Amino acid sequence: MKDVLDRLRASLRKNGLWRTLRLIPRNIVFVLTDFDRKYGTNTRMQVEDDAGLPQEHEGYEGAPPRLFHRTIRSLEVSPDRFAFIDLGSGKGRALLLASHYPFRRVIGVEYSSRLNGIAAHNARLYRHPGRRVREIETVCGDAGAYELPPGDLLIYLFNPFKAAIMERVLANLERAVQDDSREVLVVYQNPTQRHMLDRAPFLELVHYHEYRTRGLRKMPIGRVAVYRSRS
Ligand SMILES: C[S@@+](CC[C@H](N)C(=O)[O-])C[C@H]1O[C@@H](n2cnc3c(N)ncnc32)[C@H](O)[C@@H]1O
Repeated sequence: MKDVLDRLRASLRKNGLWRTLRLIPRNIVFVLTDFDRKYGTNTRMQVEDDAGLPQEHEGYEGAPPRLFHRTIRSLEVSPDRFAFIDLGSGKGRALLLASHYPFRRVIGVEYSSRLNGIAAHNARLYRHPGRRVREIETVCGDAGAYELPPGDLLIYLFNPFKAAIMERVLANLERAVQDDSREVLVVYQNPTQRHMLDRAPFLELVHYHEYRTRGLRKMPIGRVAVYRSRS
């Protein structure tokens, strides 16, 4: 309740009375559909000052659930062939969502030990009946130095890093693709470094999509580029 009153006061200060009143229905929907409120987890955007984020990061934000599910379903692949790997897994929202599909493994790699600890805790708390993967593996480390596991991989990136780290991640991926005759899919959401993947000779763009809300206003909600390794 205190949380609600604090938000109300902040909105009155920022937006004035009429705009605050107009925003109330949207906020009610927001609160009712809030992921953490529903599942008792902590995947919200706020991070503590001492979260120890890397220097070249793009900030922390959990994957939007509807967009995540729309994207994974659009891939039309059998998840049981793939290990799902979220590079820059933060508090683990995408890992929780990925556990709804029968992936071979669900693995998150996160630089911040603080956020990674929260992700591991969330994995224990998350008891959604649709969960298909019991064990979520959380690894604390630099995504650019992470040794990718064998077999087919679905690499998930939600705008995690800037060019310098992406360069190392791509070099790592290229090695993984050459080492083995496996399929690698890369799902890159909000792809700010898309030009780097477009140029990578070992990847081909499968599709790029700008998702918008349904209904009349069709507001943009996210952009997703999907790549697969060239055979
Ligand atoms: C936008 S958040 C994505 C969170 C998560 N993938 C999700 O969708 O719920 C990006 C995360 O990438 C992490 N990150 C940035 N650079 C990293 C690196 N070099 N190695 C591992 N994680 C990194 C940040 O700490 C942050 O938690």
